[in-house]
Amino acid sequence: MNSASFQSLTANLGLLVQSKTDPLSGSVDPAMIRVYAGAHKGATAFFRNRPFLNLLIDALDICCAERPRIFFHACSVGAEPYSLALWYLHRAQHQTTLLPIIDATDVEPAFLNVARTGIYPRSILEGMTEEERSWFEILPDDLVRVPAAARELVRFRDAQSFLEPINDGPYDAVLAMNALTYVSPDEQSIAIRHMADRAFHVLGLSAFHPDSIRDDIKRIGFEPVEARAEEIHEAWVERRVAHPPQPGTPEYSWQLPAFSYAVPDREYRFCSLFARAEAIAPQ
Ligand SMILES: C[S@@+](CC[C@H](N)C(=O)[O-])C[C@H]1O[C@@H](n2cnc3c(N)ncnc32)[C@H](O)[C@@H]1O
Repeated sequence: MNSASFQSLTANLGLLVQSKTDPLSGSVDPAMIRVYAGAHKGATAFFRNRPFLNLLIDALDICCAERPRIFFHACSVGAEPYSLALWYLHRAQHQTTLLPIIDATDVEPAFLNVARTGIYPRSILEGMTEEERSWFEILPDDLVRVPAAARELVRFRDAQSFLEPINDGPYDAVLAMNALTYVSPDEQSIAIRHMADRAFHVLGLSAFHPDSIRDDIKRIGFEPVEARAEEIHEAWVERRVAHPPQPGTPEYSWQLPAFSYAVPDREYRFCSLFARAEAIAPQ
């Protein structure tokens, strides 16, 4: 694909790459990619939460005897599944790891068309480490491409809402990150039930309606994975706020107060990875 085709694919999406700095620590994080299509907002980033990527891979290394099968809902323009693929390939250089088979979708077909190209503006490299940057192919016209080895691990399916059942699988992990905020608490319960129906081991969820997440998770027989919860919480850089968000405001399901904030069910509210209860119960 040449630069003109990429420009025409993204022409109506208002594609914008914005640098990101942690407001609390001042450190630079990988840039946000912002896209818009109708009511759909596809803000995403490569390596958006590195501690979460590590925990997910560690959990699947423990649970899976064969190549892990992973399903991403709400993947926007693809940075999230590609990040996991790149992280896996990096790990496989240093230790024995079964490479995953990743399926990904989003409710917005226009985002998936961009995802399938694996091509992005070069400015997405801002905020990445030297090593992360070296993984991308540099193309003419200030574009970069996800390397073929990572693209081969990810299959973008037809557009699908997480409010619908997943019609194949099962998968070892099913994820819907930074997306349940766009539906109501009742719809969140439906989405989580559908996801759990096809998830053998773990669910990845973030930016959900916090007041009902404990009931949603208990109902499906899962539990929070508390390992590294604080590190992962802190890494949702642009969602962290100094003062607790107010119930009833649009930010309530999006913003994250300090990890030390004393709120009931905080092990559920401040968690991003949930596992089947029997998988983490003491033997
Ligand atoms: C803020 S982006 C998050 C992208 C990515 N998961 C991440 O965390 O970087 C939210 C995504 O959710 C998608 N979305 C919104 N409602 C959805 C639904 N009902 N089913 C599936 N995806 C949905 C949007 O199209 C958008 O791509």
